[in-house]
Amino acid sequence: MNVVLGVGGGIAAYKAAELVRLLQERGFSVQVVMTLAAQEFVRPLTFAALTGKKVITELFASEGGEQVLASAVEHIRVAEEHEMMVVAPATADLLARFAHGLANDFLTTLYLAFTGPVVLAPAMNTHMWLHPATQANVRLLRERGHTVMEPEEGPLACGMTGPGRLPEPQRIAAVVHALAGKQRDLEGETVLVTAGPTEEPIDPVRFISNRSSGKMGYALAQAAAARGARVILVSGPVNLIEPYGVRVVRVRTALEMRKAVLEHLEEATIIVKAAAVADYHVARVPEHKIKKTAMRLSLELEPTPDILAEVGQKKGDRLLIGFAAETENLVAEARRKLESKNCDMVVANLVGPEETGFGADENEVTLVMRTGEVVRLPRASKLEVAGAIFDHAVRLRLALHAAQ
Ligand SMILES: Cc1cc2nc3c(=O)[nH]c(=O)nc-3n(C[C@H](O)[C@H](O)[C@H](O)COP(=O)(O)O)c2cc1C
Repeated sequence: MNVVLGVGGGIAAYKAAELVRLLQERGFSVQVVMTLAAQEFVRPLTFAALTGKKVITELFASEGGEQVLASAVEHIRVAEEHEMMVVAPATADLLARFAHGLANDFLTTLYLAFTGPVVLAPAMNTHMWLHPATQANVRLLRERGHTVMEPEEGPLACGMTGPGRLPEPQRIAAVVHALAGKQRDLEGETVLVTAGPTEEPIDPVRFISNRSSGKMGYALAQAAAARGARVILVSGPVNLIEPYGVRVVRVRTALEMRKAVLEHLEEATIIVKAAAVADYHVARVPEHKIKKTAMRLSLELEPTPDILAEVGQKKGDRLLIGFAAETENLVAEARRKLESKNCDMVVANLVGPEETGFGADENEVTLVMRTGEVVRLPRASKLEVAGAIFDHAVRLRLALHAAQ
């Protein structure tokens, strides 16, 4: 697969050289485009030597003293010949120009002419990243369906410590790999994913919920779609952008989630239950808002239906993957859940104030499988973890079929 790598003018520009190598190792052919500012930090020769290709640095190439178009509308040719665009480091300036459709150099003109997936890996000073202008630009770009990676936290070249470091090149390469759909091993599958929390009403204006952000489920849906699956995402109330090419069914309560899951169960071949469904709901929800008084108030809660157990009963030969968010005894709890809910795999993660899991962009999980295998995955972005879960799911299904 052909990838264009845009390099912006930031200190982290030198890390783009390692990214080139990592992308090449994963089988990508890389064409580098540098902004004028990027060339202040790294010479094009570095990238030319790594890729064996001339680095594109100008919209108008100078030949024989005359300004002529670089070989017959080069930005259109490059846009057509490449399946994916990655920009690392993406400067605050590039994010702004991409967001607002400016086209005053080769990279930004190429961006407008490009119709494939775009991955942006920002790097900048913390104040520049957190500036409302930059944050608004990031929102616009994400709404457009682009993957804007979160910069990492840590000491920055400017002396500050905070968010702004370029995500590790390994991580960028993994995201490109996942989104490039290089592996089409889920083609022909229908993956049903549940995500987010549920909201259980107390009265017309109040509800009980939990800290699930939905990020893990959305990453799973995105990863499955990139690998060729048809994806149905049953989502509780979350504040996330819908993944590209995924059918989203929005629900609010545990009862609504159960109904949506059972409605789509027949067509699913893989079910991933990443939602944090409420275990209890209020037994009798009053029609009107509960008035404040000086008296104590008790709410009577009753258990919600156990969707995972019900799906486990009805699953047939579908692959069922459950999630277990625990604050202790991780593997033992996951094993118990695997057996009691008839799952094929349980993805267990520790949750709590110190842990990854709810709300975080990264996750560190342990996979407990029906075959008895236990795999501890390294801490990584939720998209990378999602990719690893499907890697193991594909292998697990083969092992289960072979054992039959
Ligand atoms: C020493 C130095 C380091 C810089 N580092 C960054 C950076 O890490 N991120 C960023 O967004 N801008 C950084 N800038 C500012 C950009 O170079 C500047 O906004 C430039 O116009 C970006 O051009 P480009 O987006 O076309 O590459 C830096 C500037 C200097 C002088």
